[in-house]
Amino acid sequence: MAKIPSIVILTGAGVSAESGIDTFRSEGGLWEQHRVEDVATPEAFARDPDLVLRFYDMRRAAIQTKQPNAAHEALARLDAEWPGELLIITQNVDDLHERAGGSRLLHMHGTHLTAWCLACDGRPEWREPLIDRPACPQCGAAGQMRPDIVWFGEMPYEMERIYAAVGACDLFVSIGTSGAVYPAAGLVREARARGAMTLELNLEPSQGSYFFHESRHGPATRLVPEWVSEMLGQG
Ligand code: APR
Repeated sequence: MAKIPSIVILTGAGVSAESGIDTFRSEGGLWEQHRVEDVATPEAFARDPDLVLRFYDMRRAAIQTKQPNAAHEALARLDAEWPGELLIITQNVDDLHERAGGSRLLHMHGTHLTAWCLACDGRPEWREPLIDRPACPQCGAAGQMRPDIVWFGEMPYEMERIYAAVGACDLFVSIGTSGAVYPAAGLVREARARGAMTLELNLEPSQGSYFFHESRHGPATRLVPEWVSEMLGQG
């Protein structure tokens, strides 16, 4: 019997754009509104923790008002129905994949809805602001919690598991990412070098389009349900 292809899906900010969450590098995107050096590095946090905490408090509050879109829902359907290996690796720190029902999922850049306590190294679930330096619900330490977000210059989470899955997959699909940030942007070459087919679904050509066997351009809420229907033989 033919082997069921194993699939790895990498998602970026573009998959949540139609849910009303800003992307980073599009016109008027987050990194036009804020300087990375001011809000998304460990140095920025050491220099001006209030500025950084307010930035992430604003983001954390905003994403709780947003809803998953048709792209998240289609991926959750594939996740539920695909009989072979499947892993969704998201660079996004929102919880829209989970709220759509996604389960075979990992957040390589952290999440908005957990905090990181620097006293006990715990990752408690957290939905409130951090600006008032609340106590850690796990160890009680006051003012030791930071956003559980991977900042520039920090190592993304679960890289060993990511490389193992990418190295073993038959199909690597990248959705809604610009290919501007490593190591995520290098995964397509890793997958291709290991013999996988590679597909890009993005609004426009990305910095990494060249490395994909196939690129389809358009909004995720159209491209992703179409692709998932093809995969589930309902195309
Ligand atoms: N449908 C599909 N793709 C879209 C849509 C859409 N509706 N809207 C935007 N895109 C595409 C853009 O064309 C762009 O290529 O999504 C991509 C978003 O790129 P970025 O804003 O650079 O976001 P991302 O690639 O996720 O950023 C990577 O950089 O800032 C850091 O840690 C942060 O995880 C983030 C990482």
